[in-house]
Amino acid sequence: MNKRSLVSIDDISREEIIDLLRRAQYFEANPTHKLLDGKVVATLFFEPSTRTRLSFETAVNRLGGRVIGFSDAATSSSSKGETLKDTIKMVSNYVDLIIMRHYLEGAARYATEVTDVPIINAGDGANQHPSQTLLDLYSIYKTQGTLYDLNITMVGDLKYGRTVHSLLMAMKYFRPTFHFVACDELRMPSQYKELCDSCGIKYYEHHDFSADVIGAADILYMTRVQRERFSDLLEYERVKNLYTLRRSMLEGSKPNLRVLHPLPRVNEIDQDVDESEKAYYFEQARGGLFARQAIICRALGIDTPTLTTSIES
Ligand code: CP
Repeated sequence: MNKRSLVSIDDISREEIIDLLRRAQYFEANPTHKLLDGKVVATLFFEPSTRTRLSFETAVNRLGGRVIGFSDAATSSSSKGETLKDTIKMVSNYVDLIIMRHYLEGAARYATEVTDVPIINAGDGANQHPSQTLLDLYSIYKTQGTLYDLNITMVGDLKYGRTVHSLLMAMKYFRPTFHFVACDELRMPSQYKELCDSCGIKYYEHHDFSADVIGAADILYMTRVQRERFSDLLEYERVKNLYTLRRSMLEGSKPNLRVLHPLPRVNEIDQDVDESEKAYYFEQARGGLFARQAIICRALGIDTPTLTTSIES
């Protein structure tokens, strides 16, 4: 595996996370920087995406590189039966970096085993979404002024939600207290709760999305119930509308509370929340561009300036 690949958030240390966030700060202040002159990056999306693919591609363009790839696997030779191994080996002949999203858990890890080109995992099934986590951390830091000692409430599809899995793993460095709000079918998987136990992180599980839970939160991380992950669509129908955040539910919440969501949303955040000063999900997605510029430069071994702001406190 190329050591510059980013497959799981566990591939990078706390220090590297902080360093990437500082570089993201730099790119927010200086988004157009021709650091990738002559580099070609592939975006291979075997699953649909709006934000992740477009922000990665914008990041490459802003950095002066070029992009090839596909946004729909049906237009690639995988639709003719070409294996993932062969696709990765072929694309590796053409590019300096592969950014891939795949519906199978472990697909990005597997890709690192068949190429020396660095791989960035842009989401593998219900497993991991590390670049999303970097932009989530960036949003948390920007809105709270710290990453430490925060009450983080995760709501919705905690079973299949790769964004909450990655975020939980990254937050282990920053002494969080978690609240998990989900129905029995979509509870946080035991492996992530065991990770909390082993790191001494407190977590509380709730069925009710109550005023008390919202009132204690610094970050309310809403998630979509992901229809595409269910083998039983009747089960999806049963659970899809259980948790919806409405603006009135934010009354009495902490002044510093911010609502995050990796997006896309369906109905788990009512549109009336959008006008609240506590809604931060569109700014969160904007920050994805800067976080991904930093991630791409790391993957290509390109040093970038940082701002002097500390993210340590
Ligand atoms: N947050 C996220 O992964 O969005 P997309 O599916 O649109 O890329």
